[in-house]
Amino acid sequence: MTDIQILPVDEIKKPVSDESNLVFGKEFTNRMFVMEYDTGKGWHSPRIQQYGPFSLDPAALVLHYAQEIFEGLKAFRRADGQIALFRPRDNFERFNLSARRMCMPELDVDFCLKALRELLKLEQDWVPHSEGTSLYIRPTMIATEPVLGVKPADSYLFYIILSPVAAYYKGGLSPVKIWVSDEYIRVASGGTGEAKTGGNYASSLYASTMAAEKGYDQVLWLDSVHRQYVEEVGSMNICFLYDGKIYTSPLTGSILNGITRRSILTLVKEFGYEVVEHALTIGEILDGAESGRLTEAFGTGTAAVVSPVGQFTYKGRDVKLGTGDAGELTMKLYNTLTGIQYGQCPDDHNWVETL
Ligand code: COI
Repeated sequence: MTDIQILPVDEIKKPVSDESNLVFGKEFTNRMFVMEYDTGKGWHSPRIQQYGPFSLDPAALVLHYAQEIFEGLKAFRRADGQIALFRPRDNFERFNLSARRMCMPELDVDFCLKALRELLKLEQDWVPHSEGTSLYIRPTMIATEPVLGVKPADSYLFYIILSPVAAYYKGGLSPVKIWVSDEYIRVASGGTGEAKTGGNYASSLYASTMAAEKGYDQVLWLDSVHRQYVEEVGSMNICFLYDGKIYTSPLTGSILNGITRRSILTLVKEFGYEVVEHALTIGEILDGAESGRLTEAFGTGTAAVVSPVGQFTYKGRDVKLGTGDAGELTMKLYNTLTGIQYGQCPDDHNWVETL
């Protein structure tokens, strides 16, 4: 691959000055990384250029058959002024797994990491300073070949965009209210659930909108076959402190193999908890919350970090967890994970890479 070209930027915006009003993913930096792929030629023309709209043929395959994948990771500003990335290699390796599942060309992980670092060096002023904020990084690949036949495309665009963000949920660390869908599913067994592809998120919108209208923050998805076993929440994996052990759904292909999930499972084991990768049923969760066997539940994700769950509602049955504040273990995990990311806790696992 040729060197990354740095193209001139016509218009330079200043980073957001009022970080207290950051809305997740609404604001973007001045530059983005872009490169193209063509069958027979491979990936080519890597460049950093002005952030802005693409010109896309109306017949581009992504617009018709949703051949698209993405990732989400973050850059953090530390007290010593350094910029840190959290497990970035894992994100690009997962990107390649999604690419394989969606019949898209894979990327050279080392090259992507180099491209990301170059982009971040140019845009480092955009990494926000306030507590709990970060620069969200969204690598994306779309199928650009203009043809209406259903097939894997022969041309693709890969790009990385950057967005300064605060907490994903408006309430920050206030426990989220979750509506458990009994009617709709996110993905079917054997489907694309494990891939980070737009279609999985598009198919979640209908139930999420219904849940939002009823005042819920998120939907908890159950398995597609029995409609009993917990899978994930659309924007995060979910863990339960049940009988004093950490339960989370196993990676059977229908849920996302979360990088935050895997980091949290490592941390809870170090805190002395047994981890059980077994899907609880919705009945076990509701009964467990009422009987006291289930004491905490929390979501994990890049955007969501560690998000406490305060309520589940299923078929009109509401159960509340805890006292209205985040549980003790949830807070310990949030503080440890963000402490590692922001450099306040030791990084014993070498998860962090500075710029
Ligand atoms: C992330 O956590 O990075 C995600 O991709 C979730 C997102 C859909 C907001």
